[in-house]
Amino acid sequence: MTENSTTEQLDRDRVRELFDLRSSYNAHMGGGYRDDPYPIWKRLREQAPVHPGIVHELTGFEGPAFFQGLPHPDRPHFSAFTWEACDAAYRNAEVFSASLQPVDPNNGNYDAMNSMLSMGGDQHRRYRQLVQPSFVPAKAEWWIRNWIEETVHHLIDGFAAEGRAELNVDFCAAIPVLTITGSFGVPVDQALDIREAQSRPGDLVEMIKPIVAARRENPQDDLISILVEAEMKDDNGVPQRLTDDEIYSFAVLLLTAGSGTTWKQMGITLTALLQRPEVLKKVNEDRTLLRPAIEEALRWVPTDPMFSRYVTRDIDFHGVHLPEGSVLHICLGAANRDPARWDNPDDYDITRKTKASFAFGGGAHICLGMHVARAEMRVGIGALLDRLPNLRLDPDREPPRFIGMYERGATEIPVVFG
Ligand code: HEM
Repeated sequence: MTENSTTEQLDRDRVRELFDLRSSYNAHMGGGYRDDPYPIWKRLREQAPVHPGIVHELTGFEGPAFFQGLPHPDRPHFSAFTWEACDAAYRNAEVFSASLQPVDPNNGNYDAMNSMLSMGGDQHRRYRQLVQPSFVPAKAEWWIRNWIEETVHHLIDGFAAEGRAELNVDFCAAIPVLTITGSFGVPVDQALDIREAQSRPGDLVEMIKPIVAARRENPQDDLISILVEAEMKDDNGVPQRLTDDEIYSFAVLLLTAGSGTTWKQMGITLTALLQRPEVLKKVNEDRTLLRPAIEEALRWVPTDPMFSRYVTRDIDFHGVHLPEGSVLHICLGAANRDPARWDNPDDYDITRKTKASFAFGGGAHICLGMHVARAEMRVGIGALLDRLPNLRLDPDREPPRFIGMYERGATEIPVVFG
């Protein structure tokens, strides 16, 4: 990313339109849901670990809400709400499969569902092993140094002198898109085109194609270069590399999986802290508390509270018979507040003993980008605290609220400082 590039070239109005949780762009994911689902999920969890039905319908939401594992009107649907049931489903990939059929990332269909997210068994393992090295914890510094830090500071430069800002869209939303597009080698002025093209993967691929070709010729210190060079020996000792098509579908997956999620989760974390000034003060004074503050927000309100699996054979599961071919929705949002695992689970408490939550999923498909996401949130929130003294919610504006069904996040986060 070049000097002085980021903020000038990002049109704030366009950013707002593309990232407003309530816009039509997001509405089909249940963006219109405006209530708190947790009291209903608590009741459902207390009634039974597994219920027939789909999470949003059981929650009483009747608007459009599609996500992984939906719509499939021809299949029976079930939803799991306890930690134990969700854990059992994540651990049993043979019965609870992420894929309906083998995925072919070379077939020119670059949909995020035609990617490792929906692969199973050996195919998934091979892909994951090829790309995993760029996403291990030790690589977080590489992401921070190359893309995250500069992006974060450029964005703060854009509003630091104004004494007020709207952090959700003007800050949180922009960071992950710029980080991922930056890692692809895409210039900043094209980053929003890429966000817009996210729902049209073919357009996105057209933007990435020349970069992949250029990196095959002349590798650089970026993600696409690593992907074109990644090599792994298969069981017969034959070296395997990713094809161009495989890289394109992976790039589409990264943008889809990595931008909306990190944006909203960062907004959720900031909201949790800003609504609790005494906790924010503690974090400000002792930055080692930023990690638990982020982990606790992931547990308390994970942005994606549901992922799904296809049932590969008949099974009696936590009191319910699931027929082969049905879909099990793992309501990880409800599992993350199971009192069997956490005391006072509805409280946002950064002092609680750290235990893994399901915010990043579980099992073989556990979020590939979780360390990148954590680094973005840590560097982003840390830089806000460093640079904006006395950061607090704007008392004259409507306070943030969490909305959305399958992609949850804050409305707006208006703040003042100085
Ligand atoms: C706070 C932000 C994030 C959250 C809450 C999140 C959540 C998740 C969850 C729950 C899954 C598992 C889905 C399942 O069980 O089927 C997942 C998978 C995945 N995520 Fe994330 N994610 C985040 C950020 C990112 C980022 C920044 C990237 C990339 C840079 C990323 C890339 C992926 C990929 C590639 C997968 C599929 C992994 C596989 O199928 O093996 N995610 N994510």
